Amino acid sequence: MLSSNRDQFTSKLGFILAAAGSAIGLGAIWKFPYTAGTNGGSVFILLFILCTLLIGLPILMSEFLIGRRAQADTVSAFHKEAPGKPWFLGGWLGVTVSALILSFYGVVGGWILSYLFRAITFQLDGGSEAHYGELFNELISNPVEVIFAQALFMFLTVFIVQGGIKGGIERAGKWMMPALFIFFVLLAIRSLTLDGAIEGVKFMFVPDWSYLNMETLLNALGLAFFSLSVGVGAMITYASYLPKSETITSSAFNVAWMNIAISILAGLVIFPAVFALGYSPTQGPGLVFIILPAVFEQIPMGSVLVIVFFILLLFATLTSSISLLEITVSVFVKEKYAARRKLSWIVGAVIFIAGIPSALSFGHWSHITIMDKSIFDFIDYMTANVGMPLGALLFSLFAAYYYSTKITQQELNLSPAMYWIWRASVCVVAPVAIVTISLYNLFA
Ligand code: PFF
Repeated sequence: MLSSNRDQFTSKLGFILAAAGSAIGLGAIWKFPYTAGTNGGSVFILLFILCTLLIGLPILMSEFLIGRRAQADTVSAFHKEAPGKPWFLGGWLGVTVSALILSFYGVVGGWILSYLFRAITFQLDGGSEAHYGELFNELISNPVEVIFAQALFMFLTVFIVQGGIKGGIERAGKWMMPALFIFFVLLAIRSLTLDGAIEGVKFMFVPDWSYLNMETLLNALGLAFFSLSVGVGAMITYASYLPKSETITSSAFNVAWMNIAISILAGLVIFPAVFALGYSPTQGPGLVFIILPAVFEQIPMGSVLVIVFFILLLFATLTSSISLLEITVSVFVKEKYAARRKLSWIVGAVIFIAGIPSALSFGHWSHITIMDKSIFDFIDYMTANVGMPLGALLFSLFAAYYYSTKITQQELNLSPAMYWIWRASVCVVAPVAIVTISLYNLFA
């Protein structure tokens, strides 16, 4: 499948699982709860769902369209489809932004490995509420542990990408996604039945309109792009491994609804517990790592189940990180800089090194700030709120204006009404929204 340069997915299921695997990861499970937490909950969640369906999904369809048509990596795709034109620069933007995302994604992947290790050695249970907060702070401020864990996570990512993942995603994805889903449903039930859980539900669903502003909107838009893996070419790359005969629109719908479902479920696990157990929803990146062990503690056999859970979370995170690495590797393989195997290790090593400042930004380097943000937050913010929207804008404009209506109609194979909704989104709604929201936040 992805092992050699131009292999193809052997089945449509393989493609959906790979695309859903790329989308569903830290975005839904880690970033959604903490960003919703710091942006007031309900209104942010509503905006996130709207941005996903009205802007993210049509752009996802556009990326699928470009990739399947071009059958090439995200840079060559534009060389092929628009020879002699500068559109390929959008592909290079995607390469740069995806590498930056992976640099901090690897840090959080490392945290998951550290938590998994603690779960296996039964160091996660039996704490007080404050204990979980301390545990997290201890971990993220320990330079040796975070960098070692980040290195291990990047090693796993490279290992999968370099050796090829033929059938691997399909096999793992088939049981992993449903298992993760079932786990979240069970956890949500436990969390919702805690005393005082209702406050968390209100936080998620009763709108507090004072949070309705352009900054919340930008954060929701950024999260929608991050969560759907759009705007950097990941989905162009994956769709390029899809035979031309396979349909893309149903896959795009499936990816979008599953991503929203897992995000809401993650919220229903985290927020009721946050309020019931007396935490604050505005803790930032540590929220999920502090709350989850606390919820498991409330469950019979929790100390064993938490191990299984972190293994599933690791899988979900790896199926996203490999798609991030695959973007750059597939471009460089095509440019014939070296063989896939060697390139994967080199690119992985460079990205790992680039991520070290982010890893240290919670401890030794926490005093270093750029635009009032830690290094980690700055890269996270710039990639999701500037890089991805810009890439998404270019890809949607390309699909909307470079291709003829006849081509896009044929490629997407939608009902007339749905087709015009897609067109309205990529021609007008998405570009106008991205430009207005970004410029407002830049200059306001
Ligand atoms: N969608 C992934 C997540 O939510 O964890 C992150 C991601 C993967 C972003 C691949 C971008 C990408 F190209």
